[in-house]
Amino acid sequence: MDHSHHIHLLATGGTIAGKGKAGKTSGYEAGSLPPDSLLETLPPLPSSIHLTVEQICSIDSNEVDDQLWLTLVRRINELSQTDIDGFVITHGTDTMDETAYFLNLTVKTEKPVILTGAMRPSTAASADGPLNLYQAIHLADKPEASGKGVLVCFCDSIYSGRDVQKINTYKTDAFNEQDLSCLGYMRDEECYFMNESLAIHTTASCFDVSRLDRLPRVDILFFYAGAPADALDYHASKAQGLVIAGTGSGNYSPEWKNKISELAARRIPVVRASRIGHGIVSRDIHFEGSENCFPAYTLPPQKARILLSLALTVTDSYEEMEKLFRTY
Ligand code: SIN
Repeated sequence: MDHSHHIHLLATGGTIAGKGKAGKTSGYEAGSLPPDSLLETLPPLPSSIHLTVEQICSIDSNEVDDQLWLTLVRRINELSQTDIDGFVITHGTDTMDETAYFLNLTVKTEKPVILTGAMRPSTAASADGPLNLYQAIHLADKPEASGKGVLVCFCDSIYSGRDVQKINTYKTDAFNEQDLSCLGYMRDEECYFMNESLAIHTTASCFDVSRLDRLPRVDILFFYAGAPADALDYHASKAQGLVIAGTGSGNYSPEWKNKISELAARRIPVVRASRIGHGIVSRDIHFEGSENCFPAYTLPPQKARILLSLALTVTDSYEEMEKLFRTY
């Protein structure tokens, strides 16, 4: 009888599959190597792990869009009904936090789903991809990783898909969870969990994208000193919802506040997030002049965008949308 655990690798590209000049960490092409080449650089896996591999796409993660997200979620939901025990997704680091959060809200499985990648291409001196991938495969095989939502395994640390964010442009220790640090550590093949995310995820999530062929468009507007308010009109004419990357605790000028209030008549929800990337944006009557405007709480703009887009698939009530921002 076969007692091995079946781990399935879904490869999407990124720097982990990047190739460039020998030794160099910059000037490379992301997503140019097939997953089998990456696996050749790993230490041998134990016979208890049976690894299968599927190339979903081979792209720089700046090309990721809602179509890829819908493909990934459908594939994982379908394969989670089989004998597969855990999933690893190789992904570019630039939008890994977004994909991790989207999947955290939409996959319907308790089985481990682990994203990983690399900051250095496979051809760099001290490439970080092999250890990240090796540890991600081992993490996907651990019972402790079940039921914790979608996770990111990177540079010896484990992060929740809810809170992970990229915080460095080039160093190998490129992620954190704002002030929360991480969920735990990896040392070689072992995982050491210390924390858990309290936000609702995966099997308990109310979001079902199985019948969607696209996600509602939500745009992000970055506020800065002197930012013209007519940018809001433009984006409101294209999108079903807006997220503001405001200053400080989700702030902007009186002109922007007035413009946001005008959008209430057009039924456009506007979420106040912050361009700071740390801390919380909570209710503030000084900036919320109309019912269509509410805070992102602990989500950064790029994740508030995802939640607002999914929220638009289940409700048109601003009150309900804000409740989702408090629980997801
Ligand atoms: C990408 O996000 O695909 C390129 C950058 C990276 O993976 O670090």
